[in-house]
Amino acid sequence: MQHLVEIQQFDREAIQRLFELASSYEGKRDESLRGKIMAALFYEPSTRTRLSFSSAMARLGGSIITMESGGTSSQAKGETLDDSIKVISQYADAIVMRHHETGAAARAAAVSSVPVINAGDGNMGQHPTQALLDLYTIQREIGRQDGISIAIVGNLRYYRAARSLAYIVGKYKDMHLTFVSSPELSMADDVKEYLDRHHVQWSETADMREALKEVDVVYQTRIAREWIKNDEEYEKQRGRYIIDRSVADSLKDGAIIIHPLPRIGEITDDVDTSPHAVYFRQVGYGLIVRMALLRTILGESA
Ligand code: CP
Repeated sequence: MQHLVEIQQFDREAIQRLFELASSYEGKRDESLRGKIMAALFYEPSTRTRLSFSSAMARLGGSIITMESGGTSSQAKGETLDDSIKVISQYADAIVMRHHETGAAARAAAVSSVPVINAGDGNMGQHPTQALLDLYTIQREIGRQDGISIAIVGNLRYYRAARSLAYIVGKYKDMHLTFVSSPELSMADDVKEYLDRHHVQWSETADMREALKEVDVVYQTRIAREWIKNDEEYEKQRGRYIIDRSVADSLKDGAIIIHPLPRIGEITDDVDTSPHAVYFRQVGYGLIVRMALLRTILGESA
């Protein structure tokens, strides 16, 4: 694999190989990427993706260079994304990039001489490495992917991580997806059409409590303030789908609650002690999945 732009690039076999490598990295470090350099280009805020990629690279013996949006880079002078990528790809062996524009990762990949890893692009784009770690979390916590039912809750329209998860489910025909949202934030048609083409069962509803009764995985999302520009609309949507302790306690035995994080109140703090709460373990799984991904991509180009 040269670039990772969208999750559909993976097939089930490639995912399984990646997950086996990720599991082998649990609690381990090595020097397999010594001498390699990863550039972290974040044109948008990030805690988990940026730091976990950086930590993953360091744990594999590699080095990290960074560029942030704002005053310290030539973006502030008006340099285009294309020009920045043509330059930075001469400094690094891989570029991990987050950008506010949907399609930015594909644009960067088209002009980069080194692998570009999409760390999230735009509100209608993708976050493929998040989907990989979400799926890995499901495999680790439930022990299988086949036959799983997943409810994705809240902000489905402007949430690239939810879009990527839905796309990857397209590879697992016997999974069932339930989209739980208001009509305004419902899953976009491109994802639904993809699922139909791949014969994946899906349904949608506005009734969260009813939808969560029998699911194996609850995937909660944030109502993203940065992507819903209209204040009135944001206030209307915020707080509509809250997972509190009473919702968590109503889940079936063995069901898990996951969330890409950050959360801003859509899972209340008292859920953290619930046996269903997995979202902080999910963060740890993200680290080893990103180690495996860097090793796979940079190992191939070694
Ligand atoms: N899940 C996720 O992408 O988190 P960050 O925005 O902190 O990277």
